[in-house]
Amino acid sequence: MNKLIVLVIAGLSASLSHAGNIQWGKLNPTYANECGSCHVPFPARLLGRGEWQQITSHLDKHFGVDASVDDKSLAEINGYLQQAGSAKARTQVTGDKLPRITQSPWFLKEHDDIAPSYWKKANIKSPSNCGACHGGAEQGHISERDLKMQH
Ligand code: HEC
Ligand code: HEC
Repeated sequence: MNKLIVLVIAGLSASLSHAGNIQWGKLNPTYANECGSCHVPFPARLLGRGEWQQITSHLDKHFGVDASVDDKSLAEINGYLQQAGSAKARTQVTGDKLPRITQSPWFLKEHDDIAPSYWKKANIKSPSNCGACHGGAEQGHISERDLKMQH
């Protein structure tokens, strides 16, 4: 059986700091509903406004699925992401590939202590599955205190 353990590995906890905490509790409800049904509603500031624009203008071809929304919802989601998104780009994605938070230098650096094989565990499947390791992700906050890692 999977066992929930508190992370007390000395090296790892030494590198944890409150500086990286993310709170994104005040979500636009349309964004939370439409963009939080298949995965957690990702924190807006983890991508640049231009990168969000790239995502929301290709929702019919969204990482292998159709995530289209009606025009009214799209306008509201765009309004929210263009206000809450980062002013600067977070990835180096070019061409017609969609940007990913999980391929941004920030994400890779924040998670560089995690063994490559760990990402592929059955209960995690993908780095974008934030909630598999971060207890608060579904509720809109991530901090080292909510970290749950399963063996
Ligand atoms: C029908 C299901 C579905 C809906 C609805 C959906 N997505 Fe996704 N999204 C996915 C899948 C599948 C992936 C790829 C996940 C993976 O590779 O781990 C993804 C990935 C993403 C990623 C990249 C995650 C990463 O790896 O960094 C972003 C950003 C994203 N979605 C934003 C949105 C936004 C914004 C909306 C709302 C407009 C939305 N999604 C709605 C299914 C969905
Ligand atoms: C496989 C488990 C796992 C997944 C999946 C995962 N993380 Fe993490 N995350 C960690 C671990 C472990 C740390 C602490 C790493 C360190 O400090 O070396 C961390 C650190 C963080 C931090 C810094 C927290 C702090 O207080 O310093 C943030 C923010 C974060 N992750 C966001 C995310 C987001 C957003 C996603 C999904 C797109 C995600 N993580 C997916 C395991 C995971």
